[in-house]
Amino acid sequence: MHEPTLGSRALFPTLDVDVYVNHAAISPPSAAVRDAVITTLDGYGRQGVAQFPVEMARRDRVRHALARLMGAEAVDVALIPNTSAGMTDIALCLPWQRGDRILLFRGEFPANVTPWQRAAAVHGLEIVWLDAEDFRLDRAAALADFEAALRRGIRLVAVSQVQFATGQHMPIGVFGALCAEFGAELFVDAIQGLGVVPIDVQTAGVHYLSAGGHKWLMGSEGTGVLYVAPESAAALRPNVASWLSHDEPFSFLFEGPGLLRYDRPIVQRAGMVEGGSANVLGIAALEASVGLLREIGIDAIYDHVQAWHDAMEPLLVARGFVSARMTDPAGRSGTLSLQPPGHAGAPAWWAALAGHGISCACPDGWLRLAPHWPNALDEPQRIAAAVDAILATGGPRAEIQAP
Ligand SMILES: Cc1ncc(COP(=O)(O)O)c(C=O)c1O
Repeated sequence: MHEPTLGSRALFPTLDVDVYVNHAAISPPSAAVRDAVITTLDGYGRQGVAQFPVEMARRDRVRHALARLMGAEAVDVALIPNTSAGMTDIALCLPWQRGDRILLFRGEFPANVTPWQRAAAVHGLEIVWLDAEDFRLDRAAALADFEAALRRGIRLVAVSQVQFATGQHMPIGVFGALCAEFGAELFVDAIQGLGVVPIDVQTAGVHYLSAGGHKWLMGSEGTGVLYVAPESAAALRPNVASWLSHDEPFSFLFEGPGLLRYDRPIVQRAGMVEGGSANVLGIAALEASVGLLREIGIDAIYDHVQAWHDAMEPLLVARGFVSARMTDPAGRSGTLSLQPPGHAGAPAWWAALAGHGISCACPDGWLRLAPHWPNALDEPQRIAAAVDAILATGGPRAEIQAP
C-alpha cells in the first residue's frame, strides 16, 4: 500500500535530483505508478488476452476518477493518447460552418493552436486572436476585449486553463459565462492545471476539456482525457470514429456469427473518440497517480503548492528576479515563473540550477518552477542557496550547456 504525504518524496525513492520542480513538464513516476504498470504487464505476461477484461474494468474506473477530478460524469469523459488528440478530435468532429470564427490566444502552447489552424484551413474558418499576457497584466481590460470579440460572433474559444510559460490561471469561469451569454463554445486545454488547480467543468461552463497524463496528473506520457459536455457531444460528427466507437463493439468477437455489421450506431458521447485499442500500461499508471491525488485532495495539493510559492517567490524577488505570479489569487496555479536578473536569460539559469541538482524549466524565456504534492517546504531555501552560489561566481554563464 502506498500512502502519499504532502511534502514527502518517500514514494519517489529512485528520483535522482535534489529538488524536482518540473511537474509542468514531466512528472517522475511514484512507486505506486511503477507497481501498477508492472502488475498490468505481468498480468498480460501470465494470461495474455485474459488480462483484457481486467483492463476494461480499469478503464471504467479511471474514467470515473478523472471525471470526479473535474466535476463531470464518467460517461462524458474519454481516455485519449495525449492533449493534442482532444483538440484534433473536436476540430475534426465539430459541425463547422464556413466563416465560423475561432478565438485563440497568442502565447498559448502550440498544441492549442495548430489543430484549430488546420480546421480553419479545411473548413474556411476565421481565426481571431487575443494576447494571453493581457489577462495577466490588466485582466479587466482584457476581459472587455474578450467580450467585444464574442459580441462580434465566435463559434469556439480555445484556451489553456493555465498558461504554460507564465503559470497564469486564466479566468475560465468568466469565459464560460460570457460564452454562454453570446452562444460560443469553450474548449479548455487543462494539462497545466488538472491535478493541481481545482476545476469544475459544469459550474465553469466548459464544453470541452483536454489534458495529458504526464504533468500534474503524474502518470505517464501517451495518456490523456477528453471531456465533452453531453449537449455538445450530441452535435458532433463522428469523423474520428472507429470500431470501438460503435454500440456493442465486441459482440461479433464473442457471440457467434451474424453479428459482424458496419451499421451499428456510433455512440454520440465523449466515448465516440475512443476508436481503437488503448494504452493499457499508461492507463494503469494514471489510475495509480490519480488515486494518490484523490487521496490527498486537489484543494490540499493546491494549498501546499501555494505555500511553497509563498516561500519561494520573496526569496527570488529579493535576489532580483521578477515574478509573473499574479497578486490576485484567482490568477495563480501550480507554476511559479520568473524573469531572472541581469543579462543571463532563463536558459542560462536553468542550466546553472541543474548543475546544483535542481530540475526546473525555461519555456519561452521564463524560469519555471513547478512543485507538486511531494515537494518539501524547505526546498525554497535550498534553491535560494543555489542561486546565491551561482550569483557569487558572477552569475550563470550563457555558454553553460543545458542538460
Ligand atoms: C498547455 C499545453 N498544452 C499541451 C501540451 C502538450 O500536449 P500533448 O499532451 O499533446 O503532448 C503542453 C506541454 O507539453 C502544454 O503545456
